[in-house]
Amino acid sequence: MDQIVKASGPLRGEIQVPGDKSISHRAVLFGAISEGNTEASQFLMSADCLSTISCFEKMGIPISVDREHDTVTVHGKGLHGLKAPEEVLDSGNSGTTTRLLAGILAGQSFSSILDGDDSLRSRPMKRIIQPLTAMGASVQSLNQGSVPLRIEGGNLHGIHYESPVASAQVKSCVLLAGLYAEGETTVSEPALSRNHSELMLSGFGAEVSSRRGEKPGSFEASIKPGPRLRGQKVLVPGDISSAAYFIAAALITPGSEILIRQVGINPTRAGILKAVSAMGGDISILNQTSQGGECSADLLVRSSSLHGTTIEGELIPALIDELPVIAVLAAYAEGETIIRDAQELRVKESDRIAVTEKVLSAMGADIQGTEDGFLIHGGKALHGARVSSHQDHRIAMSLAVAAQNAEGEVIIEDGDAVRISYPDFFRDLEKLRR
Ligand code: S3P
Repeated sequence: MDQIVKASGPLRGEIQVPGDKSISHRAVLFGAISEGNTEASQFLMSADCLSTISCFEKMGIPISVDREHDTVTVHGKGLHGLKAPEEVLDSGNSGTTTRLLAGILAGQSFSSILDGDDSLRSRPMKRIIQPLTAMGASVQSLNQGSVPLRIEGGNLHGIHYESPVASAQVKSCVLLAGLYAEGETTVSEPALSRNHSELMLSGFGAEVSSRRGEKPGSFEASIKPGPRLRGQKVLVPGDISSAAYFIAAALITPGSEILIRQVGINPTRAGILKAVSAMGGDISILNQTSQGGECSADLLVRSSSLHGTTIEGELIPALIDELPVIAVLAAYAEGETIIRDAQELRVKESDRIAVTEKVLSAMGADIQGTEDGFLIHGGKALHGARVSSHQDHRIAMSLAVAAQNAEGEVIIEDGDAVRISYPDFFRDLEKLRR
């Protein structure tokens, strides 16, 4: 479905963005293998998280979904309570569902098949096949290293896995399999990726520890097998990846001032705040609180004149999903922005380097995709265009932000891709534009 967005006057008012996608997924994944109930409030009711719910329902886990109150209750059956699914487990568009669930399936004594949509069928799964195989599972790709995957689990042993990529999905997959393995399992990664699994698993009673690794910048996390996990109450903070679009829209629209309530600002996720402040953006962090190790705050954002910056290295995993909208900010900023070390963008829901370059160039931006990032010369006026989201939710929302200050109309093809992480995105944007 096409979505049309035009420039608007200043953004004003308050908003609460929906719950964090990564944390919502994990509440279901960990709740299902815990004993007793896990009640997740401010749960993100989006297509991706519903895919995770439906996979566990197929394995006999009762899950009550209260859409009116954004609450999900998972009636967990413990580490060994899953039933063999009678059908294929469909992860839809969700890499998190696939990779984390694969870690759990590797520990089961039944066989299962995990599949997903066309985008998921082109995403790399060798990064989890390799460590799970080294732990003793049989994980077979029926599609050249991608889904569908046939997983025959059981009899795992702990390993020390050195992940070549800083990926929370890989790390979490291996740690979850480690719950079922003999001996301790350790994953090291070249830079710290989001640590929601470590925090939440330890809240559920798992023995998880983490520390800096030996190589500069590296981190490692370990898990011991077997303790009984216990269901918990989880209050899901607002998703900073969703807040990012309103942050960016307010920064580039003169006269704007908005308050975004209760946004998760876990340092492994909040890289956009650092990047924006390096670009001269005015954001105040107010009313900080913390629950289950996850901190949140209200963000007060005022329009600002931005300048270019360099974004690289260890900061990249903490803002990986925000890079398309940061590229939009860079197009509106004065001077040059360099983004590097972000080759992971090429294997997200779309090739976000190629797609971001294509759609922003079509709107008149001076942006060049590189092997691992972008070179952007900001300050050129953007104009309307017909551009495709490439069925990537983050591209659809980034385009809406780019349209915010462009001359003329931006027609976003497949704008409804926002259902993956933020079904009411366009409605909420409209509220702030009024
Ligand atoms: C996620 C981890 C990141 C991120 C994705 C969600 C998670 O992927 O891009 O949107 O919930 O663990 P990688 O782990 O592949 O970097």
